Amino acid sequence: NREFNSVTPENEMKIDATEPQQNQFTFGNADRIVNHALGRGMKVRGHTLAWHSQQPGWMQNMSGSALRSAMLNHVTRVATYYRGKIDSWDVVNEAFADGSSGARRDSNLQRTGNDWIEAAFRAARAADPGAKLCYNDYNTDDWTHAKTQAVYNMVRDFKTRGVPIDCVGLQSHFNSGSPYPGNYRTTLSSFAALGVDVQITELDIEGSGTSQATAYRNVVNDCLAVARCTGITVWGIRDTDSWRASGTPLLFDGNGNKKPA
Ligand code: G3I
Repeated sequence: NREFNSVTPENEMKIDATEPQQNQFTFGNADRIVNHALGRGMKVRGHTLAWHSQQPGWMQNMSGSALRSAMLNHVTRVATYYRGKIDSWDVVNEAFADGSSGARRDSNLQRTGNDWIEAAFRAARAADPGAKLCYNDYNTDDWTHAKTQAVYNMVRDFKTRGVPIDCVGLQSHFNSGSPYPGNYRTTLSSFAALGVDVQITELDIEGSGTSQATAYRNVVNDCLAVARCTGITVWGIRDTDSWRASGTPLLFDGNGNKKPA
């Protein structure tokens, strides 16, 4: 409440949380977060409407046109339920493969047809015309990486063809194997030049002390330098609550005290 003006549910809006049985929607946990945020004038980032991971069992076992319809129904129902309350939605999460291929990630959703992503965006726009609609991914921070270029090409194509997309989320999980890249600002500004906002959506930087603080400063300065960089979300508050707790990657220690970062 003291430090943030936007909030994101880490797990509570995912498909397995909001539609545990097909066409039976449960919003209780997500609602608590949304109501807490809106009651204090905070924005909400919605995460996430369509993803290959954290699907409920019923969806994992579907394919083809039945899965496509179920996915679009999920997007429509959840985005409609939260219409007017969400600043930005991660409509589609992590749809590209890692490595040098630049290809889409194989998944049950991808196998419904290459147009599944744009179909999800069109459904989200129809359901909540006021929300900014984002494509969100990781390992898309380094401008030279094939995955970054592949996402860039998709967004450019969407803008050219009028597919409704407003923003690109860079998760930005940094560690020694995937460090903050010196060309990060180029990545942010290049996406922005396509006519979309960029948002840093899941920031965490493993490390400690001065070097961690420097990396956080670099990321924030890069965002501040790009007019269309419109938000920085850290993926947790205390180190002990992080999905990578052993890397102490967040801004507050396990006691809730501020770190140098
Ligand atoms: O809540 C249950 C608990 O009841 C149970 O006892 C326990 C036993 O495993 O599991 C708990 O659920 C876990 C949940 O986090 C809450 O802690 C799940 O197993 C675990 O899989 C889940 O992990 C989440 C992960 O996404 C799943 O893919 C992480 O918290 C969450 O930080 C992480 O977030 C993702 C973003 O959505 C997308 N980008 C990458 C990021 C990191 O993987």
